[in-house]
Amino acid sequence: MTAFEPDCRRCPRLVAFLDRVKQQHPDYRCRPVPPFGDPMARLLIVGLAPGMHGANATGRPFTGDHAGILLYATLHRYGFASRPESVSSDDGLELIDCRITNAVKCLPPLNKPQTAEIRACNDHLARELAALPEDAVVIALGTIAHNAVLRACGEKQSAWPFAHGRVHRLPGAPRMIDSYHCSRYNTQTRRLTQEMFHQVFEQARELLPNP
Ligand code: URA
Repeated sequence: MTAFEPDCRRCPRLVAFLDRVKQQHPDYRCRPVPPFGDPMARLLIVGLAPGMHGANATGRPFTGDHAGILLYATLHRYGFASRPESVSSDDGLELIDCRITNAVKCLPPLNKPQTAEIRACNDHLARELAALPEDAVVIALGTIAHNAVLRACGEKQSAWPFAHGRVHRLPGAPRMIDSYHCSRYNTQTRRLTQEMFHQVFEQARELLPNP
């Protein structure tokens, strides 16, 4: 099995949902959304799952929805993206030593993947993590991403609790920094501010000095 399967249909609920959304929006991708960026990048951002009118429409993670606004602006600020905005999958934006993926590759109803779906998709993430260089850093956006990374690395959730800004030094795996997800809900309620998000990327930059 490869790290990404563009025609994966292993989750019946997600497959049925994507088929329905495709009928309503024939121009949307409505298939698994591939990771974006160099597989050998030193920074891997792990999100939750494609958004209905964002990645599920455009085919690029965090592109076309609110969550991507802060993410791409921050990646650009810290030298990980060639531009501050990601508009479409063919807008020419390039990630620099960075890759973006999701814990679940298909759009889930109500943005909530079920535990069985997170598990079914986890071997994709495990392969992506295994392919990273030794000194890589992962930023996990939210607890679902955090737990998916732990599962992919064979680690217990109870041993590595989620905490915004915490760096986890998992044995034999990339270092993982936790961040609250940059969702519209979290930014509008100020659970996650721009400053808090910048601090996470400052930590990532300290762990990954420019070559
Ligand atoms: N878009 C994504 O690709 N992932 C998220 O987690 C949110 C929006």
